[in-house]
Amino acid sequence: MSANNNPPTPSNFTVKKLCDKTDLSSFDCSYDDELRLNDFLHKEAFEYQQEDMGVTYLFYNNDNEIAGYVTVAMGFIRKKRTHLSVEGDDKIHFPALWLGRLAVHNHQRKSGVGTYLIKWCIGFAKKASVDMGCRFIVLVTKEGYRTKFYTKHGFQKCIVELDENKKMLFFDLKNAKS
Ligand SMILES: CC(C)(COP(=O)(O)OP(=O)(O)OC[C@H]1O[C@@H](n2cnc3c(N)ncnc32)[C@H](O)[C@@H]1OP(=O)(O)O)[C@@H](O)C(=O)NCCC(=O)NCCS
Repeated sequence: MSANNNPPTPSNFTVKKLCDKTDLSSFDCSYDDELRLNDFLHKEAFEYQQEDMGVTYLFYNNDNEIAGYVTVAMGFIRKKRTHLSVEGDDKIHFPALWLGRLAVHNHQRKSGVGTYLIKWCIGFAKKASVDMGCRFIVLVTKEGYRTKFYTKHGFQKCIVELDENKKMLFFDLKNAKS
């Protein structure tokens, strides 16, 4: 798979929710994993899900290997962090999907899987917005290639920053093509 020539499509993946029977043993995203996303999936994600704190979706490729995963939950973003001009004071909170975790297997990187995961999350949030308010996708990540990776896909950096290393980004679902 190549990000430029042959980007992954839905036919390349089967998406499954993490469950007690999921075999995670072959999944490894520990390379360049400053955010400890490998540990999270192996040690915490299932319990996290049982506590209704975040649902993890696994993306199986056609060889039935887990190519990547995302963990999502409900969230919000304060108006003052966005560029949106809407009546009301800055303390207003906008409804959002919280993209808590997103990672790709070491051996599947730079072939468009991460891009596919983002697009899947955008579609997922758009669908959710039919049944309940959900205007944005929000996440926190490290400054550097990760923020570039997201901005390339239409995410914007928040006006109010968290700290020097961590940035909050948001995606306005109104900008997403249906
Ligand atoms: C960040 C991550 C998800 C990207 O996944 P991926 O499948 O490699 O991404 P893609 O193949 O879709 O790449 C898309 C773009 O991201 C950028 N990119 C991805 N990895 C990069 C890296 N290591 N260095 C610089 N740019 C990178 C490139 O701009 C690339 O575009 P290009 O193909 O035109 O060069 C993956 O590196 C990863 O899982 N990292 C560890 C976990 C993590 O940090 N997740 C992000 C947490 S919020």
